[in-house]
Amino acid sequence: MKELFNQYVQSLETYIMFAIGEEVARIKPELEAKGRSPISLSMGAPVAPPPQFVIDKLKEALDIKGIHSYSSPKGEAFYLEAIAKRMKTRFGVDLDPKKEIFSLIGSKEGIANLIRELINPTTNEFDRDIILIPDPGYASYKEMIKVSGGVGYSIPLTMGNNYMPDLDEIWENLKKDGYDEKKVKALLINYPNNPLGATATFEYFKEIVDFCKKHKILLISDAAYTDMYFDENNLPPSILQVEGAKDIAVEFFSFSKPYAMTGWRLGWICGNAEAISIFGKLKSTIDTGIFKALQKAAAEVINSKEGDEYIKEANLGFKKKQEIIAKGLKELGWAVENLPDATFYLWLPIPPRYKTSKEFTDDLMYKSGVVAVPGNAFGDCGEGFFRISIVCSDENLQEVIDRMKKDGFYF
Ligand SMILES: Cc1ncc(COP(=O)(O)O)c(C=O)c1O
Repeated sequence: MKELFNQYVQSLETYIMFAIGEEVARIKPELEAKGRSPISLSMGAPVAPPPQFVIDKLKEALDIKGIHSYSSPKGEAFYLEAIAKRMKTRFGVDLDPKKEIFSLIGSKEGIANLIRELINPTTNEFDRDIILIPDPGYASYKEMIKVSGGVGYSIPLTMGNNYMPDLDEIWENLKKDGYDEKKVKALLINYPNNPLGATATFEYFKEIVDFCKKHKILLISDAAYTDMYFDENNLPPSILQVEGAKDIAVEFFSFSKPYAMTGWRLGWICGNAEAISIFGKLKSTIDTGIFKALQKAAAEVINSKEGDEYIKEANLGFKKKQEIIAKGLKELGWAVENLPDATFYLWLPIPPRYKTSKEFTDDLMYKSGVVAVPGNAFGDCGEGFFRISIVCSDENLQEVIDRMKKDGFYF
């Protein structure tokens, strides 16, 4: 059967988070028997329920006449208008809801579909289109590009470059590595970043826009974490705040993380009207929009006082969790100095006695039941690190530290 599938799909592995989930389910009884019931610090998904307000709105929406029929793939007008309003109040960005916003079944779907629209299908090794992607970066990017027949060329994000690398240097390296610069279709950025938690300055955003204009490539900004921040005076910006960004940029947003609505599968793409229009053609071929009741509830939460308060409370909660885990990790010998300003991730070096990230995360999981993600899952630059998501309860975070101490997981 396998040989019937296209050559790129054949080489796909099960997505890392699901592979970890399956392994945890397999070893769970064994871990429980030794008092090490699994604690997941792997999946980037809040465990708290969404705001009660949005759940109530969803229930109400179920009784609206006509709500159960097909929606437009683009999204209902009320959904798109609510998003336009949010983009204006949160970022000061003006968007035409008819032309510059399109609904998504979660941002992951949207990113995958945009990527396959950019890359020309080819099996010729030397003719593949290129998308520049952050490394480490969201594990799906590289695989999405690979199955579309393209090349995900790494932009190394390191502490040395403050996670804001010199893009001209990367362009030069690409040529030195033998790639044809004419094959580059897009630059994909993700600030605040998964897995690093790193943010970028607005100055850097301006440089990125200039860079994409200079090379005439699409700028794709994955803004899934812009509402998960810890400094109220320094909110993560949208790339569309940069003057003229709309000429070359599209940006992805999601309801998943800020409102703990991961299972609702709601997001949007916005920005350059031509790109959105082309994107819409494929989308309308593939799916037929989001259940209207979900759009209705989401449209209400996104501009509500309750929604904003929820985000504020959730971020305070994650800040507290950051402090609990950082204190514990310091006691274990980790030098945790600069905590991320955003996201619920912590990016940490593995203890030097381990040869690979996987060796460390496996040891931690099989001995202590603490489930983290090996850094190399996010790209080659992630080797030597691991990522934890601080989404579990405060008590479980403390339990993680206690187990690590008992089981000898000192740095
Ligand atoms: C950087 C980044 N982008 C996009 C997504 C996808 O989110 P969703 O499809 O739930 O909107 C995730 C999920 O973890 C992510 O970390």
